[in-house]
Amino acid sequence: MITIGSLSLQNRLILAPLAGYSNLPFRILCREYGAGLCVTEMISCHGLVYNQANTLRLLASCCSERPVSFQLFGSDPAVMGEAAARLNSFSPDIIDINMGCPVKKVTKRGAGAALMTDIVNAEQIIRAVVASARCPVTVKLRSGPDLRTINVKEFARMSEAQGIAAVALHGRTWSQGFSGAADWQIIAEVKRTISIPVIGNGDICTYAEAMQRIAQSGCDAAMIGRAALGNPWVFNPGDKPKTLQGVLRGANRHLCLIEQYSANPGQTTASIKNHLGRYFSGLRGSSAIRKRIYETKSWESLQGLLHTISQESTT
Ligand SMILES: Cc1cc2nc3c(=O)[nH]c(=O)nc-3n(C[C@H](O)[C@H](O)[C@H](O)COP(=O)(O)O)c2cc1C
Repeated sequence: MITIGSLSLQNRLILAPLAGYSNLPFRILCREYGAGLCVTEMISCHGLVYNQANTLRLLASCCSERPVSFQLFGSDPAVMGEAAARLNSFSPDIIDINMGCPVKKVTKRGAGAALMTDIVNAEQIIRAVVASARCPVTVKLRSGPDLRTINVKEFARMSEAQGIAAVALHGRTWSQGFSGAADWQIIAEVKRTISIPVIGNGDICTYAEAMQRIAQSGCDAAMIGRAALGNPWVFNPGDKPKTLQGVLRGANRHLCLIEQYSANPGQTTASIKNHLGRYFSGLRGSSAIRKRIYETKSWESLQGLLHTISQESTT
């Protein structure tokens, strides 16, 4: 078990924030398959404060996914504070501050990983969010701006001093993006530097690997991103099924949750195809299945296709 501020999680495995993927249906699925906590896609503080429809859509939540962490991004302390205040009415269990996203559209405005170059502004943002939030606040960091400047220990100490309840750390620098390998040594060092929980993140592919990383680094929890796509079983000791029928059960449940929790499932057809295709990777005939998924034109035909694939495999 791990405790973040006043919140106790059932276990030490957390679904990472994944823009375009960690929406409500996928978060519920990951909770059902064993994740102790899921983080939303990043939410723009400006979008929230100016009531932009695309941003407000990201705030959808429900009882069965609780606890949930809402992730905010932005670079203006006042707007971040105002956004956190507005989030209160959506009852987040945790508010997470994004200081790790390397995407240009985010960093060119000084937000995400760019904050790792400006500890003064980062501190003001943390202060503003902690002052407004009615729940524990966490921060998601990278190891530093680049390999010559590994400054995350300084950021971690500052975060703890400003009332942050836990630190998540992706063991890569901003300039690395997703290249190279995540540095779990720095995660272990940060754990030894501060007293609040540290959540390690980067390159975990299986449940066993997550447990090993926690044991070796001494960190309190592991956050899993890419390996969870098409693979909610990663949160479970049993790992991904090796049979088509086993994998189809997960894929069908995912579609079922989309149907239940999306205002217009048809609108999600294009975006879910890529995610759905990932369920079948590693299985015999997976590229043919992915091709068939991409060729579907509607939500109904996507649902029908999974049914057909299931029947074909039993005849
Ligand atoms: C498609 C995609 C979207 C992501 N979106 C976010 C995001 O919204 N906020 C964030 O802090 N990190 C985001 N990340 C980074 C992940 O949360 C995570 O830190 C990174 O993928 C490393 O973990 P992994 O090796 O387990 O994937 C994203 C990564 C990917 C691949």
